[in-house]
Amino acid sequence: MKRKKPGILTPHLIRYSPVYLIGLAALFMVDYVQLYIPQYMGEVVDGLDAHTIDGPGIWSLCLKIILVGLLHLLGRFVWRYCIFGTARKVERRMRNQLFQHLETLPQRYYHEHKTGDLMSYFTNDLEAVRMAVGPAIVTAFDATVLTVLVLYRMITHVSLTLTLYTLIPMAVLAVFGYYYGKTIENRYRKMQKAFANLQDYVQESVSGERVVKAFVQEEKQKAAFAEVNEAKRAASLNVVKISAFFMPMLQFLVGITYVIAIVIGGYFTMIGDMTLGKFVMFNAYIGSLVWPMLALGDAITSISQGIAGNRRIHEVMDEISEIQDAEAPDAVTALSGQIRLDDVSFSYSENLPEKLKHVSVEVKPGETLAVMGRTGSGKTTLVNLLTRLYDVEHGSISYDGHDIKNIPLHVLRENIAYVPQDNFMFSQTLAENISFGHLDASQEEIERAAMAADIHENIMDFPEKYQTMVGERGVTLSGGQKQRSSIARALLKDSPILILDDSLSAVDTDTEERILENLKEYRKGKTNIIIAHRVSTVQNADHILVLDEGVPAEYGTHEELMALGGIFASMAHKQQLEQQLLATE
Ligand SMILES: Nc1ncnc2c1ncn2[C@@H]1O[C@H](COP(=O)(O)OP(=O)(O)O)[C@@H](O)[C@H]1O
Ligand SMILES: [Mg+2]
Repeated sequence: MKRKKPGILTPHLIRYSPVYLIGLAALFMVDYVQLYIPQYMGEVVDGLDAHTIDGPGIWSLCLKIILVGLLHLLGRFVWRYCIFGTARKVERRMRNQLFQHLETLPQRYYHEHKTGDLMSYFTNDLEAVRMAVGPAIVTAFDATVLTVLVLYRMITHVSLTLTLYTLIPMAVLAVFGYYYGKTIENRYRKMQKAFANLQDYVQESVSGERVVKAFVQEEKQKAAFAEVNEAKRAASLNVVKISAFFMPMLQFLVGITYVIAIVIGGYFTMIGDMTLGKFVMFNAYIGSLVWPMLALGDAITSISQGIAGNRRIHEVMDEISEIQDAEAPDAVTALSGQIRLDDVSFSYSENLPEKLKHVSVEVKPGETLAVMGRTGSGKTTLVNLLTRLYDVEHGSISYDGHDIKNIPLHVLRENIAYVPQDNFMFSQTLAENISFGHLDASQEEIERAAMAADIHENIMDFPEKYQTMVGERGVTLSGGQKQRSSIARALLKDSPILILDDSLSAVDTDTEERILENLKEYRKGKTNIIIAHRVSTVQNADHILVLDEGVPAEYGTHEELMALGGIFASMAHKQQLEQQLLATE
C-alpha cells in the first residue's frame, strides 16, 4: 500500500512540532532528574555503611531529593499541557477536515456508503489517532529515553558487564514488539470495521423502527443484531487475545531482568567486585526499567491502533468528488432561469441501464415546466442532473447558454431552490428549518414564505409557533406539513429557479390549488420545474413533459397533450373519474 500524498495527519504533526518539541524537552527533563533519586539513595546507603555520613549530610541529600521532586512536578505539567493539548487540537482539526471533505463528496458516495461507517470515522478512528499522537507518543518517548538513560547510568555508575546481561530480555522484547505491533494493527482495523457495522445496524433499525414494528419483525431484528454484536465481540476479542498474551510476556521479561540483576549482581557483590551500595543502586535502576518496558508495550498497541484508524480515515479522504468546478469556470454569478437540455441520456453507472433517454427540453425565464410520469420513470433522476448531484454523460444541460459543468457549483446551487422528494427536516425550530438556506431572513420574510406554502396557519396552531422544535425533541410533522415546510424553505431562498419534486403529493387538492395560486404571485417572472402526479397540479404549466421509462413520451401544453389522447390524456381521464367518484360519495 503505497501512498504518495502526505496524508492529513503529517501536516498537523509538522505544524505542531515546535510545541511537541517543548513537551518532549520537558519530558526529557523529568526523566533525567528522576534518575538522581536512585543515585542519592545509593549515596545514603554507602555513607551509612561506611559511617561516613552524618545528620546534615543526610538532610542535604533529602533536600536534593525534594528539589528533584519539584522539577519533576513542573516538567510533568509542561509536557502534559503541550502534548495532550496538541493531540486534542490535531484531533479537532482532523475531524473538521474530515467533515469538510464529506461535504464535498457527491451524492453517489452517500448512496454507496453506510451512515454507521461514516459515523465511526468521526468517533472511534479519530480517537485512536488522538491516542497515538498524544499519550502514546509520550509513553514511547518517555520509555525510550528512560531506558537509554537508565542503561547509561547502569553502565557508568555500576557495571558494564552486569548491564549487558540485563539487556538480553530487552532484545527479546524488541523482536516480539515488532510483530506484535503489526498484528495488532491488522486486527484493530477489523475490529473498527465490525464496530462500524454494529453502529450502522443500530442506526438503521432505529430509523426503520416503525416498519419493524408494523411487520412484527422484532425477533428477527434481535437475532440479526445479536449476530452483528457477536461479530464485534469476536473482532474485539482478537485484539484483546493478542495483547493479553503480549502484556504478561512483558512482565515475565521484567521478572527475568530482576533475576539476572540479583543473581549476577549478588555474585559480584559477594566476591567484592561491587559495593553493597552499588548493588542497591543497580536494583533501583532495574526497578525504574520496569515501567518503561511495560509502557513500551502499551505504546506499541496505541500507535498501531492509531495507524489503523488513520488508514481508515484515509480511505475517505482519498475519495475525490467527480463533481467539481471546472478548471476555468465561466464567469457566471447569477442565472436568469433559462434552461436547456439537449439530448440528455443518463445511467447511474456503466453497467446499469439508462434511466433517461434522449431528453431535450427548453425552458425560458419565467416559464413553468411540469414533469409527469409513473414512479421510476426518471423524474427525480432528471432533477439530480439539473442540480448536478450527478454529472450528465451524454448530451448536455445548459443554463443561460453556459454548460452546467462550466458554472461554478455554488452559483448553480445558489440559483436553484430545490424541494427534494424525501424532504428532510432538521432537529431545529420551524423558523430555523424554513430559513435554512437564508439564515438572515427576517420573521416577516419567513412568514411570507410560510403563507405562500400554506403552512403558516398550521404553524400558528403549534404551542410555540415558529419556535416549535421539529423532530426527535419536538413535534412530529405530518407528511403534508413536512412538504409544505420544505416548500416554504425553498420559496424563502427566492432563487431564479425552483424545483418541486413531487412536493404536493401529500396535500389535498384544495391546499394544492391554494399553493399553486400563491406560487403564481410569489414566483412571478421566475422559472419553476414542478414534478407531479396529479394532472390538476400541472394544468397551468407552460410545458408538460411526460416521461415513460426515461423516454420523453409526450411534450406540450395541457391542451395539446389532451388532444393527443396519449398517456397524459388517459391519466387525466382516470383522475377525473376518481374525482367524480369522490364527489358522489
Ligand atoms: N442513486 C441511484 N442509483 C441507481 N439507480 C437509481 C438511483 N436513483 C434512482 N435509480 C433508479 O432510476 C430509476 C428512476 O428513478 P427516479 O428518477 O427516482 O424515478 P421517479 O422520480 O420518476 O419515480 C428507477 O429505476 C430507480 O430505481
Ligand atoms: Mg421521484
